[in-house]
Amino acid sequence: MSFTQRHLLGIEPLHPDEITALLDLADHYVALNRSTSKHAEVLAGLTQINMFFEASTRTQASFELAGKRLGADVMNMAMAQSSLKKGETLIDTALTLNAMHPDLLVMRHPASGAVNLLAEKVNGAVINAGDGRHEHPTQALLDALTIRRAKGRLHRLTVAICGDIAHSRVARSNLILLGKMENRVRLIGPPTLMPAGVADFGCEIFEDMRAGLEGADVVMMLRLQKERMDGAFIPSEREFFHRFGLDAEKLACAKPDAIVMHPGPMNRGVEIDGLIADDINRSVIQEQVEMGVAVRMAAMDLLARNLRAARGEAAG
Ligand code: NCD
Repeated sequence: MSFTQRHLLGIEPLHPDEITALLDLADHYVALNRSTSKHAEVLAGLTQINMFFEASTRTQASFELAGKRLGADVMNMAMAQSSLKKGETLIDTALTLNAMHPDLLVMRHPASGAVNLLAEKVNGAVINAGDGRHEHPTQALLDALTIRRAKGRLHRLTVAICGDIAHSRVARSNLILLGKMENRVRLIGPPTLMPAGVADFGCEIFEDMRAGLEGADVVMMLRLQKERMDGAFIPSEREFFHRFGLDAEKLACAKPDAIVMHPGPMNRGVEIDGLIADDINRSVIQEQVEMGVAVRMAAMDLLARNLRAARGEAAG
């Protein structure tokens, strides 16, 4: 089965075979990115517009690089300086951009569902680069590729996701993807940072970090997403680090070959000890960044193929 999506709005609509197809293609782009000439012109002639309504380092830089390496005309909209600041609605901005015939629209937005709205209004393929606390599909896919390369498989693994689950679109997309690929997911954190109805996802929930890490193959740490908190969710950052921060002593509860992940940006000394983050024998945080470019190249390549097919054009 090939990749049949018109947009990439979340992990939810993806079939496991589509996830595998995307990761296989991403492996090919990892090899290309490690070579001296990093170009494959599969997006030549296509226009990619990046719209980031929230701060971003890794995601925005990797979407831009991914598009450029594949030969697209890439434009980064400076959203802080756009007409939205003059009162234009998101829909009117979308229609304005749509009139310029973009083929790929990458959007990050603080409102859950904003990307779905955009997808209804434009002719190009929309890629969700993070919408509120809803989904961040390319992050889950790059995490999956990192895990698959480090562990040699993406099934029957025990993955512990720790910290601020409630406000995390990364946790949500990972939970869905890892479940689809038949892994065991554990969520670790204080009850105040667990989303309502999380038990429906079929994962185990732990308040005690050591118990939750027992036998884990993968330990995924998350930032406290204060920008999405409307009050005090933890007593103090010091107390949080003491109970839920990953240090050598807590990591010793996981499997001896467990890998440590973090989507970034990290807050050292809050959710993770800097020594663990920098330990090249355990931490795959830099590999995650590398996989991010390859996964975004694969996603845009596959979406562009479907765009061309829908328009009745030959492959580029
Ligand atoms: C995450 C995000 O924006 O959701 N970062 C990322 O894309 N790498 C996680 C976070 O902000 O903590």
